[in-house]
Amino acid sequence: MNEMSTSEQRSVEVVKAINGLEKVVLREIHGSSVEVYFYGAHVTSWKNEHGEELLFLSSKAIFKPPKPIRGGIPICFPQFSNLGSLEAHGFARNRLWTFDDNPPPFPADATNKIFIDLILRPTKEDLKLWPHSFEYRLRITLGPRADLMLTSRIRNTSTDGKPFTFTFAYHTYFSVSDISEVRVEGLETLDYLDNCQKRERFTEQGDSITFESEVDKIYLSTPTKITIMDHEKKRTFSIRKDGLPDAVVWNPWDKKARTMADFGDDEYKHMLCVEAAAVEKPITLKPGEEWRGRQELSTVPSSSKQLDS
Ligand code: BG6
Repeated sequence: MNEMSTSEQRSVEVVKAINGLEKVVLREIHGSSVEVYFYGAHVTSWKNEHGEELLFLSSKAIFKPPKPIRGGIPICFPQFSNLGSLEAHGFARNRLWTFDDNPPPFPADATNKIFIDLILRPTKEDLKLWPHSFEYRLRITLGPRADLMLTSRIRNTSTDGKPFTFTFAYHTYFSVSDISEVRVEGLETLDYLDNCQKRERFTEQGDSITFESEVDKIYLSTPTKITIMDHEKKRTFSIRKDGLPDAVVWNPWDKKARTMADFGDDEYKHMLCVEAAAVEKPITLKPGEEWRGRQELSTVPSSSKQLDS
């Protein structure tokens, strides 16, 4: 165990975890915590001040490279989905990231927050798969009210003068008590591409979104705030995003769940992915240019007035 820094009850520790993979544990002064594997820069746990887990992690998740971890917050880069020749959802989620010892300043992060900076640069092997030099810096921040922020900064570092293009998603798996009782607000009346129907374009009808079968939709040009209401838990998740116009909503339901080796047959009842993403319009960076994409997650009790803030 390696203590990176402490101040009162706040801490950042590196610990050996499943299959010898290392993870960083951030603990905030009021008791909330976040766990991040270097493997994939993958957040596998986010707990509030009462120690309640807010993310879904499959009991069958395989912590063994090159298999991505099922649950938590996988990072999809340099592509969302499995279009083109790259592996599904890109390779960032199954590479070993390292501490970023020298991050340039991040303007939005204030005091009273605990964070870590990770970095991914392509190896020679990666460059054979995707021939573009980049630096991907990720800051993971835990705020005093257990808010969890992920800020990605991707820079084109190539010297050959060539731009590159990518798509992206924070593939967040939220833990919910019962998917049939969950409602998502902020996506009603929007256009979406339906992955279950060959990515055909439709327009969402009616009120908030509820779930009664498999869903795999890419909502386009969404508002910057989306909420997930979990009635049974009396909890509302709020997702705020910046630089990420789209939002993917995914639940495999029972039939697809049975085809996934790293996912329990009934686990679909207790998870919902709402993914802050940039899919419809890929992002292009010229050499020297940088892109930023940020997601901020928080929870409030469902009855609370804070919801409108
Ligand atoms: C979602 C996609 O984001 O991820 C789905 O929209 C996909 O189509 C799901 O099935 C899980 O992907 P993977 O590669 O983690 O099994």
